[in-house]
Amino acid sequence: MDAKISSDILYIGVDDNDIDLFESQYAVPEGMCYNSYLILDDKIAIVDTVDFRKKDEWLTNLQNALQGKNPDYLIVHHMEPDHSGCIKTVMDLFPSLTLVASAKAIQFINQFFEDSSLSARAQAIKEGDVLSLGTHSLQFIAAPMVHWPEVMVSYDAESKILFSADGFGKFGTIDADLDDWACEVRRYYFNICGKYGLPVSNLLKKASQLDIQTICPLHGPILQGEKLAEALRLYTIWSNYDVETKGVFIAYASIHGGTKAVAEKLAEILREKGAPKVSISDLSRDDQAEAIEDAFRMSTLVVAAPTYDGDLFPPMYDFIHHLELKAFQKRKVAFIENGTWAPAAGRIMKAMFEKMKQITMVEPVVTIKSRMTKADVLALETLAEEILR
Ligand code: FEO
Repeated sequence: MDAKISSDILYIGVDDNDIDLFESQYAVPEGMCYNSYLILDDKIAIVDTVDFRKKDEWLTNLQNALQGKNPDYLIVHHMEPDHSGCIKTVMDLFPSLTLVASAKAIQFINQFFEDSSLSARAQAIKEGDVLSLGTHSLQFIAAPMVHWPEVMVSYDAESKILFSADGFGKFGTIDADLDDWACEVRRYYFNICGKYGLPVSNLLKKASQLDIQTICPLHGPILQGEKLAEALRLYTIWSNYDVETKGVFIAYASIHGGTKAVAEKLAEILREKGAPKVSISDLSRDDQAEAIEDAFRMSTLVVAAPTYDGDLFPPMYDFIHHLELKAFQKRKVAFIENGTWAPAAGRIMKAMFEKMKQITMVEPVVTIKSRMTKADVLALETLAEEILR
């Protein structure tokens, strides 16, 4: 991308095409980027650093953008290591640099870097504080739990830019294909921020008071125009846990193919009965983060799994546990269980969803004994009608 966001605000972030799993858990087939910015004003501010793995590339970008000048401030919006990894490096490199961050972030700096000189050079800021750089002034806005408690975002009224930290982030490198932009923004949102709907909603309320023309997040593309409006629209739906797409998402886990056949049959019946959208995922093989995303996206979730060791088949247990972690709520859920001699999966799955908020359980649970029979197909027909009711 063009490094110039405006005449005096530059992009100095880096792409990460070597990473195998983001946060050691999320597949990122289009890589990842750690965004960082430089504001060249009377005072020069570096806005966040990057993952330490990309230190050399980032320092090159920084030095090229500085062109021999000395920076005055390092703004730290978020202390997670994918952004804070190079704090000590850059503070050591520029001894006159003042670190600007929330008090909680300064506490975390002491935990991540065993170097008390860093916090001694820190200026704590809180909600409403303004840091004047000359033409630009950064107004700080607290965004706790988007996605850690120390997070601040900042707004520059001069350029109408919101530096949004993890908010509005996306998996993928900075120049990754934008045609299907929402898919990787959604997968990022529900897996990284999904649990924090209320804090995100609070941040959106504060942001609505500002004239924002550009959003500069810490991951993914810089947002302007239609993409910015679309991002705000989607974030409003997602942070309220509202349904984005009317339809049914069938998540199944199958040991020997019996449960898979049932899940696929239900998908066929739902399509025949005119379900607006049906998608299906094999939890043992497909990307779990994508399954989490689809569960939040659609209005109804169907979970289909066998009993295993008198308990629930682990891929399904893991999926539902992840949904619980991410505060899954406000959805209709239907159940299919399989068991050759003592089916227990349905009872266990229901118990797991009972712990979540505003879940409407569709009855009855369909029980398969080993392989689907003609009678089971009739039960699936009834279940499909209940789902679409
Ligand atoms: Fe991109 Fe919460 O770190």
